[in-house]
Amino acid sequence: MKIPLHTFLITGGSSGLGAATARMVAQNGGNALIADLDAASGADLENELGPQACFVPTDVTKEESVLAALRLAEERFGGLHGVVNCAGIIIGKKVFGKRGPHSLEAFEKIIRVNLIGTFNVIRLSVPLMARGEPNEGGERGVIINTSSIAASDGQIGQAAYSASKGGLASMTLPLARELSQHGIRVATIAPGIFRTAMTDNMPEAMRETLARQVPFPPRFGEPDEFAGLVRHITENAMINGAIIRLDGGLRMDPG
Ligand SMILES: NC(=O)c1ccc[n+]([C@@H]2O[C@H](COP(=O)([O-])OP(=O)(O)OC[C@H]3O[C@@H](n4cnc5c(N)ncnc54)[C@H](O)[C@@H]3O)[C@@H](O)[C@H]2O)c1
Repeated sequence: MKIPLHTFLITGGSSGLGAATARMVAQNGGNALIADLDAASGADLENELGPQACFVPTDVTKEESVLAALRLAEERFGGLHGVVNCAGIIIGKKVFGKRGPHSLEAFEKIIRVNLIGTFNVIRLSVPLMARGEPNEGGERGVIINTSSIAASDGQIGQAAYSASKGGLASMTLPLARELSQHGIRVATIAPGIFRTAMTDNMPEAMRETLARQVPFPPRFGEPDEFAGLVRHITENAMINGAIIRLDGGLRMDPG
């Protein structure tokens, strides 16, 4: 799947990994639909990127909200060729902490946004992508999800976050298998630690400790490096049903 003249819905596109992906798409001649709750940053990014980008206020957990974003993709850009799911939230909470057991509400919220929200966007996007004209290789679309290395090496306090990201990793293959009949590929990126708003909120000491654990390069990843992998997955038709770690060799300690 080529990027020029093709349209990509990017959830969580107002910030961090999603914003870098939107920039990459627009800079390579594609159309970026920035779907996010954060309207102020989304509008700024739309202004920065010009007519190839469009912000649409979106809550990935709400059916009507996602359908409205998809209607805009069709009206403004004439269809949909890619979905990059970056919308996500994080919490750190022990199952049995000083204040008692993990709140079930907090657990449900993480699963709702990270896992159910991603699935909601996928299930509603596929019908639109499947209606598109296939390219010369028979391809109609690509779906890229953002899991985390916490799916496999979650630290203490990450039970909810790891469960949500593990769900994304586990659904990669069944989705790829089913959607192959429509010429739609599915892949999942499992980032290590990247410099975004999500990690900017961590205490400085924790960030330094984490960065030192990365074998090479011993630093946080840059959002552009994530967007570079999104570009490669999009362009390389053999990547399908895969979960790709992007982590500088990091295997997180128990925390
Ligand atoms: N930064 C990292 O180190 C790292 C590592 C592994 C995985 N990830 C994952 O990468 C993804 C992107 O994270 P980031 O680091 O860019 O964080 P970020 O906080 O910069 O961006 C996340 C975006 O998601 C949006 N969002 C949250 N809930 C939403 C909802 N219900 N509907 C629509 N948008 C919503 C936020 O408004 C925000 O703009 C997340 O899924 C995160 O879990 C990040």
